[in-house]
Amino acid sequence: MKKRWRSILLVLVILAVICSFIHPFGNVKAVRSDHALLQGLNIPPDVSSTIRRSCADCHSEQTVWPLYSYVVPSSWLVESDVAGGRSHLNMSHWETLSSDDQQQALSKIASMVKNRKMPLSQYLLIHRDAKLSDAEVDAIYNWARAERKRLSATDNPAAPAPPAK
Ligand code: HEC
Repeated sequence: MKKRWRSILLVLVILAVICSFIHPFGNVKAVRSDHALLQGLNIPPDVSSTIRRSCADCHSEQTVWPLYSYVVPSSWLVESDVAGGRSHLNMSHWETLSSDDQQQALSKIASMVKNRKMPLSQYLLIHRDAKLSDAEVDAIYNWARAERKRLSATDNPAAPAPPAK
């Protein structure tokens, strides 16, 4: 009897090892670059470090892969989040976006952070240090909106100044 359990366990371990080499969401771990994030934007050091800490694992090619991200089933959950995050917004290729797309992305960053939709809640469960303080939310929000305005003004230099509020 004991022997049979041991064989079942062995089969399960072998299956887990084999499955860990299967990447249903693409082999996201193979994509890595040290290219600067959000290249071309003016970004204060504190906002930059908050974004690195709380967003870069899913929205850049500088993901830090924890041990559990190499073993099924957690590897599939992590790879799915990273694949989804990069496909919506990849900060490692920011400069390839048109100015319009950059402005749109900055608006989304501002609203996602303000509404506490990002970072994803399942990520925060494990990465407690990625949680944003109110001050960090405000800093990202104000920065993203200011950068969007700056890009928009650069695109339309002749536009009349908006009326003073
Ligand atoms: C655990 C992975 C993960 C982390 C960490 C994370 N995101 Fe996301 N993000 C996603 C995924 C996945 C999506 C795709 C949409 C969804 O599932 O809600 C997304 C979508 C977005 C979008 C919407 C893009 C679009 O085109 O609609 C923005 C903006 C965004 N994230 C910004 C951020 C910011 C800013 C941070 C850090 C404060 C952050 N995210 C942290 C995974 C993540």
